[in-house]
Amino acid sequence: METIIFATKNKGKIKEINAILADMDVKVISMEEAGIDIDVVEDGTTFEENAMKKAVEVMQVSQKITLSDDSGLEIDYMDKAPGVYSARFMGEDTPYVDRFDAIFGKLRGVEEERRTARFVSCIAAAFPDGRKLLSYDTVEGMIGWEAKGENGFGYDPIFYVPEKGRYMAELSPEEKNAISHRGKALRKMKVLLKKEMEK
Ligand code: IMP
Repeated sequence: METIIFATKNKGKIKEINAILADMDVKVISMEEAGIDIDVVEDGTTFEENAMKKAVEVMQVSQKITLSDDSGLEIDYMDKAPGVYSARFMGEDTPYVDRFDAIFGKLRGVEEERRTARFVSCIAAAFPDGRKLLSYDTVEGMIGWEAKGENGFGYDPIFYVPEKGRYMAELSPEEKNAISHRGKALRKMKVLLKKEMEK
C-alpha cells in the first residue's frame, strides 16, 4: 500500500480525504504523522498557485506523493473577496462572528440576486518524479441574512445553499461532503491519481 502525504495540519481534512480515497490502495497521512514540520508561505494570488506550492515544497521533504488543498470563499458583490485571503480575512485571529458581521454590513440592503458566492477548492498533487496534477471545483450559493447552524467550520454558517434550502453549517458532514467544493475537487483528484499511479 502506498503512503501519500496530505500537506495540512487539519486532521478533519485527513479524515475526509481517506474516506473519499477508501477504495484505492493508498493510505493518506498528515504532515505531522509523517514527521514533517515546515511552514509553507501561501503567497500566491490564486488557489492553484498556493495549492501547488504547498504540495511541491512538502513533497521535496517527504519524497512521497504529496497532496494539498487551498480553498476559500468568493463573494461576488465584494469583487470575489476574501478569496485566497479567506483564512486571513480581517486577521487570522479574528473570530468568525466578527467577520460575519463585517460581511453582513457590506451586503446591507443588497438584494438576493446579487448576494451570490461560492466556495472554491483546488487540490494539487506533486510526485517525487516531477509529475504534477491539479483539480478544481466549487459549490455555488449565496451570503444569507443571518449566521445559522453548528456544523462545519469557517464561513459555513453564513453560506446559504439553495439546492439544499439550508445554510452549509446546517448540513451533516456527509451531506456537506457530497456537494462541497472540497468533496468534488477531491473526487476529481482521485480519478486523476488513479490514472497516474497506474503508469
Ligand atoms: P485553507 O485552504 O485551509 O487555507 O482555508 C482557507 C479558508 O477558507 C479557511 O480558513 C476558511 O476560512 C475558508 N474555507 C475553506 N473551505 C471552507 C468550508 O468548507 N467552509 C467554510 N469555510 C471554508
